[in-house]
Amino acid sequence: EIFATPKDGAKHVAETIASLIKEKSATGQNCVLGLATGSTPIYIYDELVRLHKEEGLSFKNVITFNLDEYFPIEKSATQSYWYFMHHHLFDHVDIAPENIHIPDGSLPKEKVKEFCANYEKQIEEAGGIDLQILGIGDNGHIGFNEPGSSFNSKTRLQVLENKTRIANSREFQNNITLVPRLSITMGIGTIMRSKKVVLVAWSNKAPIIVKAVEGPVTEQVPASILQQHPNASFVIDEPGASEL
Ligand code: GLP
Repeated sequence: EIFATPKDGAKHVAETIASLIKEKSATGQNCVLGLATGSTPIYIYDELVRLHKEEGLSFKNVITFNLDEYFPIEKSATQSYWYFMHHHLFDHVDIAPENIHIPDGSLPKEKVKEFCANYEKQIEEAGGIDLQILGIGDNGHIGFNEPGSSFNSKTRLQVLENKTRIANSREFQNNITLVPRLSITMGIGTIMRSKKVVLVAWSNKAPIIVKAVEGPVTEQVPASILQQHPNASFVIDEPGASEL
């Protein structure tokens, strides 16, 4: 789905999320959302906050699972995805704190394995993810599933590529040495079990968008597996679609 500008695309995604929340709420069901961080989804969260404040969209029936988090990182660090999600969305809507799930980058390393297994269990117990929002890294990563990640992978500790650390160093005073070397990420298998997936990407991602959408399905381009998902779409702006 191609939109003239990122704002138009983000508005469309926010409306898709809002309709699902309302549809589920009308039948007394929870709405389980998989959420992403990065610069790409910011407009989506801005629009959801606006819908909450101006049009009364309620998040009382919403359960969220975030894709990933740096490791190690303190929740209070401004670069943490915990901070990002609270700053851009959770602090401004009526979601119940116990319904928010974000991989915990502040755990001692020996606790991470158990945390990851439990994260998978919590997703399952919530009834699975109804709608997963994704961004994409320049190398095709989804969540922090770097090239070479198994298509069957689950939530786990993942080593970050230097390319990813360089790209994300803009959040760390442009100093790669400050960027954590590891992350906790949902696996590709976890993402593929979502009932619906929407990958969002804007202009600067054109070279990887074409590989993910039209290239071979390969573990070297993690997002390419979405070609095999029964209900996945890409929401992009016109410059992002320039190589398709
Ligand atoms: C990070 C996140 C991804 C995100 C990607 C793109 O590495 N782990 O989930 O999709 O960056 O970020 P941006 O939207 O800022 O380009």
